[in-house]
Amino acid sequence: MSTMKKKENESRADIGLIGLAVMGENLALNMAGKGWKVSVYNRTVKGVEEGVVERFVEGRAKETTIQGHTDIASFVASLATPRKIMMMVRAGSPVDELMEQLFPLLDAGDILIDGGNSNYEDTNRRVTLSESKGFRFVGSGVSGGEEGALNGASIMPGGSQSAWSEVKPILQSIAAKAEDGTPCCDWIGPAGSGHFVKMIHNGIEYADMQLIGEAYWLMKKLLKLDNEDMADIFARWNTLKLRSYLVEITANILRHKDGDGNYLLDKILDAAGQKGTGKWSVINAMELGMPLGVIATAVFERSFSGQTELRKEAATKFDLKRTEAVHDQTDTVNDIYTALYASKLTSYAQGFAVLQKASDTFGWNLNLSSIARMWRGGCIIRSAFLNDIATAFAAPQKPGNLLLSDYFEEEIRGVLPGWKRVVTLATADEIPLPAFASALNYFYSLTSPKLPANLIQAQRDYFGAHTFERIDQPRGVFFHENWTGHGGDTKSGSYNV
Ligand code: 6PG
Repeated sequence: MSTMKKKENESRADIGLIGLAVMGENLALNMAGKGWKVSVYNRTVKGVEEGVVERFVEGRAKETTIQGHTDIASFVASLATPRKIMMMVRAGSPVDELMEQLFPLLDAGDILIDGGNSNYEDTNRRVTLSESKGFRFVGSGVSGGEEGALNGASIMPGGSQSAWSEVKPILQSIAAKAEDGTPCCDWIGPAGSGHFVKMIHNGIEYADMQLIGEAYWLMKKLLKLDNEDMADIFARWNTLKLRSYLVEITANILRHKDGDGNYLLDKILDAAGQKGTGKWSVINAMELGMPLGVIATAVFERSFSGQTELRKEAATKFDLKRTEAVHDQTDTVNDIYTALYASKLTSYAQGFAVLQKASDTFGWNLNLSSIARMWRGGCIIRSAFLNDIATAFAAPQKPGNLLLSDYFEEEIRGVLPGWKRVVTLATADEIPLPAFASALNYFYSLTSPKLPANLIQAQRDYFGAHTFERIDQPRGVFFHENWTGHGGDTKSGSYNV
C-alpha cells in the first residue's frame, strides 16, 4: 500500500456495526468509548426503522466520534481495510440477507462478525461461504444483555482463525474483565464453535434460572417466607459460593415494588417465554448422545408454565396438600442453599460434557478451562464458582466429568445430604422441583456402576432382535437370543444413533 493510501486507510473507521437495536447501539458506544473509530449503519424502512441512524447519532452517540450511515455502500467505504463489520441483527434469514448485500461491497480478507444468537450450524455454513469468496467470518456469542454490551460483555468468537489477530484488540477491549483482570473474550475455535459455546451458555442460563425459581418456590411454599425475607436470603447467598449475577438480581427482583407499593413479582404471570437457544442446546445434546437433563427440564418447564389453563384445571381435580408441613426454617434454608449449589454444579457438569463431546466430534479442540474463564464476567451466568470450574479443567489430568474433579468431588460429598433432604421434603410435600430432582438423579446415575439398561437391551432384543452385549464377552460383540423359542436367529442391525 502506498503511503498516501495507507494514510487514507488509517483515517477510516476501525470497525463498522450494523443493526442499531439496543445491543448494537450499546456495543457501538462501548467501542467508541474505548477509543475505536466506529461507523454504524441501520437499514432504513419506512415506519419503524426510519430515522434510526439519525436518532442514534444525534442522541446517545452525540458526544462520540461515531459516524452514522443510511447507505450501506458508503458505510462499507468508510471502513479501513481489512474491513471489520459486526452484524447485530436478528438471528436467522436476516443475517443471510445482510451478507448477500455486503458481499459485492467487500474486498478479499474483509471480516464479517455475527454477534447475534445464531444457530451454530448456520455459522458453520456462513464461515464456509464467506471463505469460499475470499472473506473471513467470525460467529461470536455475546452475552451480558444491554448492560454488558455497554460496559463489558462476555464475548465468544469462533470461525476464520486468521481473523482473530485482527479483531482481538477490539473485542477484548469491549469485553468485561474478570476479577483477575483477564478479558472475558478469547478465541473459541473453528467454524460455528463460538455460537455453539454461546448456545450452551444460554442452556446453562435456562437451568440456573429454573433452579433459582425452584429455590424461591420452596422458600415461599414450604417455609412461607415473604419477599423481603427471601431477598435477604438470596443477598446473603450472593456473598457465599453461590455468588452470581442471577442470584444477585433475584434479590433485587424480590424487593422491587410496583407503582402502587406492592411487589411487582407477585403480579407477573407465571408463563415463561423462550427464544430458542435452550431448546437448541437440548436438541444438540441429543444429536451428540449426551445427557443434558437439567437444561432439558428447564426448557420443558418453561413450556409447561405456558399451559396455564391446563394447570388450573388439574389443580381443581387433585387437591394436593402442598403447604401443611411445618419445617425448621434455618435448617431448610441451608438445605435449599446446598441443593441449589449442587444442582447448579450438575447442570454445568452436563453443559461442559456436551462441549467436550462437540469438540471431539467436530474437531474443535475446545479449551474448557478457557471457556469457564470467559464466563466469569460480563455474561448472564457469571458466577464465583466458574473460577473453581476453570481450575478443575486446567488440571493436568482433565476430569472425565466436572463432578469427578478432586475439588468438586469433595464439594458434592459435603452437600449431598442437604440436597437429598430438599428433594425428599418437597416430593413428600407435593411441591414440584423438577430441576433439583433431575440433577440429583443424574448424580445417582453417574455414580451407578450398573443401571437397568440390561433389561432395556433384553426387551429390544426380545421384540425386535436388536441384539445385546454380554458382561462375560468383550464390548462390541453382539448377541441375539431366541427368547420365545419361535423367534428365529435373524438379527436386526446393532447400529446406534
Ligand atoms: C445473554 C442472554 C441473551 C438473552 C437470551 C434470552 O447471554 O445475554 O442469554 O442471549 O437473554 O436471548 O433467551 P430467552 O428469551 O430464550 O430466555
